[in-house]
Amino acid sequence: MCGIVGIISSKEVTRRIINSLKKLEYRGYDSAGIATLVDGDINEVKCEGRVEVLEKDISKFNLKGDIGIGHVRWATHGKPSKINAHPHSSEQVSVVHNGIIENSTILKKFLEKKGYIFKSQTDTEVIAHLVTEYLKKNSLKDTIIKVLKKLHGSFALGIIFKDQSNLMIGAKRGSPLAVGYGPNENYIGSDSYALKSMTNKISYLDDGEFCIVKKDQIEFFDTAGTKVNKKVMNLSKDEIDYDKGDYKYFMEKEIDEQPSTIIACINEYVDKHNKQINIYNFPWKISSIESIMLIGCGTAFHSCLMAKYWMEQNTNLDVSVDIASEFRYRKVRFKKNCLYIVVSQSGETADTHAALALCKKNKMKTCAVVNVIESSIARDADLVLPIYCGQEVGVASTKAFIGQMLVLYILSIKISFDQKCISKKKYQDKIKNLLTLSNSTKKTLKLDQKILQIGKTFAEAKGSMFLGRGYSFPIALEGALKLKELAYVHAEGYPAGEMKHGPLALIEQGMPVVVLAPRDEYYKKTISNMQEVIARGAKVLLVTNKNKDEVISENIWEKIEVDQLDEELIPFLMTIPLQKLAFYSALEKGYDIDKPRNLAKSVTVE
Ligand code: F6R
Repeated sequence: MCGIVGIISSKEVTRRIINSLKKLEYRGYDSAGIATLVDGDINEVKCEGRVEVLEKDISKFNLKGDIGIGHVRWATHGKPSKINAHPHSSEQVSVVHNGIIENSTILKKFLEKKGYIFKSQTDTEVIAHLVTEYLKKNSLKDTIIKVLKKLHGSFALGIIFKDQSNLMIGAKRGSPLAVGYGPNENYIGSDSYALKSMTNKISYLDDGEFCIVKKDQIEFFDTAGTKVNKKVMNLSKDEIDYDKGDYKYFMEKEIDEQPSTIIACINEYVDKHNKQINIYNFPWKISSIESIMLIGCGTAFHSCLMAKYWMEQNTNLDVSVDIASEFRYRKVRFKKNCLYIVVSQSGETADTHAALALCKKNKMKTCAVVNVIESSIARDADLVLPIYCGQEVGVASTKAFIGQMLVLYILSIKISFDQKCISKKKYQDKIKNLLTLSNSTKKTLKLDQKILQIGKTFAEAKGSMFLGRGYSFPIALEGALKLKELAYVHAEGYPAGEMKHGPLALIEQGMPVVVLAPRDEYYKKTISNMQEVIARGAKVLLVTNKNKDEVISENIWEKIEVDQLDEELIPFLMTIPLQKLAFYSALEKGYDIDKPRNLAKSVTVE
């Protein structure tokens, strides 16, 4: 997490750093800061809170400069506060950092013994003092090589120097850093998106590399200080200006965009005329795939779990799922003909990226399902399957979840047909059904008013549960996650059949419980589980799909019915009321829907 930007120019940089920081706020928004170099002095302005607060402070201080670095923070070491906000400076240097310095305590002791005084509780401040210390006896380049060797953990760094008005340093290990080339000025940034208003020419640092950035030159070096050449990528010129339009919140807009997300994705992968799926760039013979491993975090993990159900249903493959932060440290048995699929909206999630790196190190076949196609994960995977849902700004993932599920579903039926697990007729029927999904999603979005009322009860609840079986279980997990992260209400997602193995003890009078019970093979079983929670006082919101038979249970508090669709596609529709439920619950409480507390959109620390 945390976003960094740096500009070296012969023109004023402050305004542009602020603009880039606004674009990076998805990486962290608990504090922000900027440092510029003016006449041999480093001037800093920092604040707790958002970039808009920083912007106001800067106007008071009239901060100027034609070289500077800026930062938006997501706190790891030390609480969000002005003192812990970056940049962190010594007499000599100013540093912005994304990542975690794991040996900061040892380095701090070493530096304190040498007389350095620490102002903040951050791990980053050690870097400023360490650079200052090494500069006493080393050239600038040697200092950087030595300092980077001393640091354990992950980082992307931007550094400016009091007595070097013609350069700044960028460095990367673990956390991403892009370098941009401009007209008589150059830039560093956590991603290309932050730099896009200034340039479309970008290079990315690889792990262990650092760069010396001047106005008219950028030099790249590896860990040992040997020069390296970098590929310059040309990004598309059009800057996505993504605004809220008539909506008050990005999340609300992104939920409503889901029918078009589905159409955009289907247009990319489905030949509607011939009723077939096109994944042109598949680098292996589909028949050679013997098993599948799906890896992700949070919402992306839920789409992986969903895919396991579809893939097991539609293929004969062995399908496993794992949470990236677990996978990366387990003693995994890598299987030669296994396809390792990592799923990540941002394509920057540290754990998912590390899981991918591990698969690559073991020479596995890797595929990334991502939204941001310029991301680190997309650059590193053998095969990239974008979800084509456009930029997602709301921190809580909504349309990207639908997009991830859709790509994984499409992949499952493609593998199923290519491996001769289903007939051509069944394959084409599935595609035909898929083409109706967007319309049914549109209808589901209209169930709004009812959910607004229901949301009030969930907003006041001490805790809640989301239950489902089969295809509905991953959706139950996702619904609970949405409510937790947006409305800060404790919510547990559970397989309905697990309730009597412990969690039933949590049910008390008036507790709101969501039961997902589509008319599938599990329907009757789930309805029985529902009765068990109702009998213990739960207020049940039943989410099901329209059917001529009435629901065979009394005492349901509320009921939401989505369209009748092929049962494999129902999870898409079931997701929507749960997104809305979390949205309205948070709205009721007046919380910051697009930027929930303690979270960030891109999780670039482990
Ligand atoms: C929840 C949410 C997170 C992300 C997770 C992975 O609404 O957005 O749980 O899904 O942090 O992020 P990506 O998909 O960018 O790897």
